[in-house]
Amino acid sequence: MLIFHSIVALQQYLDEQRKKGLTIGFVPTMGALHQGHISLINTAKHNNDLAVCSIFVNPTQFNNAHDLAVYPRTLDADSAMLEAVGCDIVFAPSAEEMYPKPTSLKFDFGDLERVMEGQFRPGHFNGVGIVVSKLFHIVQPNKAYFGQKDLQQCAIINCLVQDLNFDLELVICPTQRENDGLAMSSRNRNLSPEQRALAPTLYACLQQAKTQLLDNIDIATVKENLANQLDVIAGIELEYFEIADFETLQPLSGVLSQRALPTKTALCIAAFLGKTRLIDNLIITHS
Ligand code: PAJ
Repeated sequence: MLIFHSIVALQQYLDEQRKKGLTIGFVPTMGALHQGHISLINTAKHNNDLAVCSIFVNPTQFNNAHDLAVYPRTLDADSAMLEAVGCDIVFAPSAEEMYPKPTSLKFDFGDLERVMEGQFRPGHFNGVGIVVSKLFHIVQPNKAYFGQKDLQQCAIINCLVQDLNFDLELVICPTQRENDGLAMSSRNRNLSPEQRALAPTLYACLQQAKTQLLDNIDIATVKENLANQLDVIAGIELEYFEIADFETLQPLSGVLSQRALPTKTALCIAAFLGKTRLIDNLIITHS
């Protein structure tokens, strides 16, 4: 496995591989890798000649200085995990390499970024758009792999690829979970043992909300039930819970019952456990 820190060196190497006719599957990450990331690498490796993983804690997508400061940085352990699963190339640039000067370009993803993550993390998707565009230009992959765990990010990247004609195929991979249902996340390692014990509640709440919707309970009541349920749990502070149209991610509201739900509905949650912010989602499909 080769590790590159320089953009030029990586580009030269990848150009040579492309000339040999090899295809490139790309997995952008911020490191602190877990089995969720590894599942993307495995899929990339399986469907392309070369798997490239980038590891870069992107400062422009953090709107909270504490979150950026405590974001785990574990390059040695990450490299060992990637090597073990046969990843071919790691790209781990410094902040100076990626941002020799601050970018002046700003992305606005319209309605897509006015809700949920975009609403509660102002500027977050601008930072994601900037860094992913840079990475796509640098790596020029045939396919790029993202996790459904960050559902709104997938929609944003899809918009980026469509609107800017990036010549690649976007592949969305399922959320990997711990045995107790907690969605794997680099942030999980910042949880205290007590918080870790509480964390699976988020997924349990999503599943209960799904059951209620399928039992034809209206959206307003389902949202209220979930908020009331979390309200009595000390240690979990709900930021948002939305029931949204999967295609547009615009929240559904009111007394809409299951019969009137769109074909695909996304249930999305964000909550704080102490200072650690976790997100999760679940999709309901019905005909
Ligand atoms: P990061 O949080 O490191 O996630 C990298 C990729 O792994 C994302 O596509 C994310 O959705 C996916 N992922 C995370 N947890 C997962 C899980 N439990 N199951 C499946 N996939 C999972 O997302 C980012 O980094 C950044 O915003 C990035 C796209 C790299 C831009 O900086």
